[in-house]
Amino acid sequence: MARILLVISGGIAAYKTLELVRRLRERGHETPAILTEAATRFVTPLSVGALSNQPVLTDLFDLDREREIGHIRLARAADLVLVAPATADIIARMAVGRADDLATAALLATGAPILVAPAMNPHMWAHPATARNVAQLRADGVRFVGPERGEMAERGEAGLGRLAAPEAILDAIEMHLSRDDRLAGRHVVVTSGPTHEAIDPVRYIANRSSGRQGHAIAAAAARAGARVTLVSGPVTIPTPPGVTLHAVESARDMLAAVEAAMPADIAVMAAAVADWHVEAAAQKLKKTASGPPALTLSENPDILATISRSAARPRLVVGFAAETENVIEHARAKLARKGCDWILANDVSTGVFGEADNSVHLITADAVEDWPRLSKEEVGHRLVTRLAEALSDETR
Ligand SMILES: Cc1cc2nc3c(=O)[nH]c(=O)nc-3n(C[C@H](O)[C@H](O)[C@H](O)COP(=O)(O)O)c2cc1C
Repeated sequence: MARILLVISGGIAAYKTLELVRRLRERGHETPAILTEAATRFVTPLSVGALSNQPVLTDLFDLDREREIGHIRLARAADLVLVAPATADIIARMAVGRADDLATAALLATGAPILVAPAMNPHMWAHPATARNVAQLRADGVRFVGPERGEMAERGEAGLGRLAAPEAILDAIEMHLSRDDRLAGRHVVVTSGPTHEAIDPVRYIANRSSGRQGHAIAAAAARAGARVTLVSGPVTIPTPPGVTLHAVESARDMLAAVEAAMPADIAVMAAAVADWHVEAAAQKLKKTASGPPALTLSENPDILATISRSAARPRLVVGFAAETENVIEHARAKLARKGCDWILANDVSTGVFGEADNSVHLITADAVEDWPRLSKEEVGHRLVTRLAEALSDETR
């Protein structure tokens, strides 16, 4: 049983949230709710409260309610905050950190994970302002479920903007709430993000990795009870809760940090490690009349191969292969070459870097599994399930 603070904002899909309240209560969850003023035009606090049998609040300045519960305490006591439906407006207010009503004040005060289920007209969802706000919230660690594609309430309109189906929202809630002990007592080392290879004290060579996939794997392993060491290159996303972060810059630093983190039961090498480094200049390179400087590149250590072949090899070593062509073939070759157990291969020609979703294949010594297109969180969750199964088969 969990305490899920439900924030309902003023969209036409607000009526669907009533069904969600009923389903959450059936599963034993408590759902105190906050309605924005606009939401009260679509559903009544009375109907939400009658279904949830929990407090329903609407007004930041309601003295009686404030004495009784307190909006900060309400926000702090939640295991998860669900915003459903989330209007374009509340997403915008969240993205800039406003606290001008009870809903946004609670969203700013909570330390719990926030899950947002947007619902709006497809033009509103596709607008660059909404896209910018959603990107900001994702970078702040807010999770999204939906929207889905389909018919809109407005006659004749269809597209991406419908509230996710109740089942999808319930699944996303369970995934974010679930804490179990499938990897209890295990140490998992995950690498994530890009590396920065210095050219001189102010310049570097990097790549487009956002760290989202590696961080999602670290988060999923922590939720499964593992002790997690996350060795990450420079990223702008938050460190998942319950994870120990070692922040590094270059591939050589990353290898040193991974080696220092051993022994481990599992290593998942999801970082996009630079293949080469530059013989970095001690001082900032100057523009000269003799033309641009020649950069001398040297090979970086191969972290995946080094860990796979080391004396302290974890029982399971998983690598990533970001390919732009012949994805499976290249990934299979990489598996053999590096000596790791599994490869998660993804086709990055379609722009996976920085995206919310990922399309991967799990390649083992004797099989290829094609996973459907999933959010990076779901890829992390699925990988952790497979890792837990593999380790328990081994110890059986
Ligand atoms: C009939 C009607 C339906 C609306 N449906 C939506 C919607 O589905 N999504 C949305 O983002 N805004 C919708 N709006 C606009 C919001 O109600 C409006 O932006 C409001 O300020 C949202 O306030 P809130 O974010 O504080 O709840 C709708 C407005 C009306 C009048």
